[in-house]
Amino acid sequence: MEKYVIKGGCRLTGEVNISGAKNAAVAIIPATILADSPCRLENLPDISDVKTLTYILESMGAKVEYLDRHTVEIDPRTVDTDTVSADIARRIRASYYFLGALLGRCRKAVVPMPGGCNFGIRPIDQHLKGFAALGCDYSLDNGMISVSAPQDLHGASVYMDVVTVGATMNIMLAAVLADGMTIIENAAKEPHIVDLANFLNSMGANIMGAGTDVIKIRGVKQLRGGAYSIIPDQIEAGTYMAAVAAAGGDVLIQNVIPKHLDCITAKLVEMGVEVEELDDAVRVRRSGPISRTNVKTMPYPGFPTDMQPQIAAVLCLAQGTSVLTEGVWDNRYRYVDEFRRMGAQIQVDGKIAVIEGVESLTGAKVQACDLRAGAAMVIAGLAAQGTTEISCIHHIERGYENLVGKLAGVGADIRTITVPDEDAKSQAG
Ligand code: EPU
Repeated sequence: MEKYVIKGGCRLTGEVNISGAKNAAVAIIPATILADSPCRLENLPDISDVKTLTYILESMGAKVEYLDRHTVEIDPRTVDTDTVSADIARRIRASYYFLGALLGRCRKAVVPMPGGCNFGIRPIDQHLKGFAALGCDYSLDNGMISVSAPQDLHGASVYMDVVTVGATMNIMLAAVLADGMTIIENAAKEPHIVDLANFLNSMGANIMGAGTDVIKIRGVKQLRGGAYSIIPDQIEAGTYMAAVAAAGGDVLIQNVIPKHLDCITAKLVEMGVEVEELDDAVRVRRSGPISRTNVKTMPYPGFPTDMQPQIAAVLCLAQGTSVLTEGVWDNRYRYVDEFRRMGAQIQVDGKIAVIEGVESLTGAKVQACDLRAGAAMVIAGLAAQGTTEISCIHHIERGYENLVGKLAGVGADIRTITVPDEDAKSQAG
């Protein structure tokens, strides 16, 4: 087992480069099976979720060749199944994008019920409602979801009862090769929705309105392959912005789309952090005290739920009391006990966390309970006095490329160590 060890208290200075967006990549990789010729994906993040999805594609018969760490060539012509049987698929939430993609390709899909970070109930009723509107039957047997379109897929109007990223993308995937027009109302508007639409349009799809809450998809007969570069990761960039806010310093965060960061920038500025927007970079500086503020997470363009634990780490060090409201997930405060070990003062009541800022946090042994909570513990460790050891870092490495190298590059004292088996066992208990 590996751990991160952080000696806190170093100001962060220098430059950091942001990788491609995880949540765009995890939909675009399955989408390649809709093409009738090879696809080259560029600016892929080098993270374990991407490796898992390309492994699943290979297990389905696709030819997958990494040209370098960030570029993969996928030939989907040899895919010879409508089933994702790989056990590994259960571990990753995004494996559910194979439902929409296989439906588009084969009119049938059998995919394990997905896993992913545990924030309470993670239903897929809106995905299934969308598939049903397009003419599909579905069933759940032995942990496998089966969806098929006995009379072919046809366009339809689908109204989302909740704003959902996953269902919006899955219905887009199923509808691009359906017969006629599909309209998704109350669609999610996240940057990765737009990126998936741009990728599919580059293959010959006809999708309009992505990035607004009404997406119209006119089905086409076939999609071709081609080359496509994934957008930069909004949440990875936001995580480094929060790290500078917490630890103090002056960092140029490069290869970003500043517009995607507006919701994060606005809150940091309220907290007394300086953020300068450049063409494809943001410069983040903090030397004075951190002011308290309130934050509520919402679908885009609201403050992202995937930045909630990281902003909480900063608010732990603010002057005064801040109120954090989680507006997307039922149970995204599982990390709070770990923060308390570091001296944070947080009370949670349902979806609300009240954070009393403290003068400083202190290093402790903590466990990453999910991807973003783990990133938040890294941020807290960077700002804390003393040494923080973070275990269960596989959660973090699902979604952050070279976190240790990037932070060390801006002056953080962070390294990965391998923990002897006995130590790992006592921690697991
Ligand atoms: N929901 C339903 N029914 C559904 C689908 C969703 O009620 O059929 C509800 C959920 O319970 C939740 C809300 O709708 O309350 C939003 O869920 P959404 O479908 O948007 O989430 P997701 O697609 O499962 C993606 C990201 C998450 C991110 C959310 C919200 C991926 C692989 N995951 O999940 O990212 O938190 O959107 O933005 O794209 C992360 O990267 O750390 C992460 C967890």
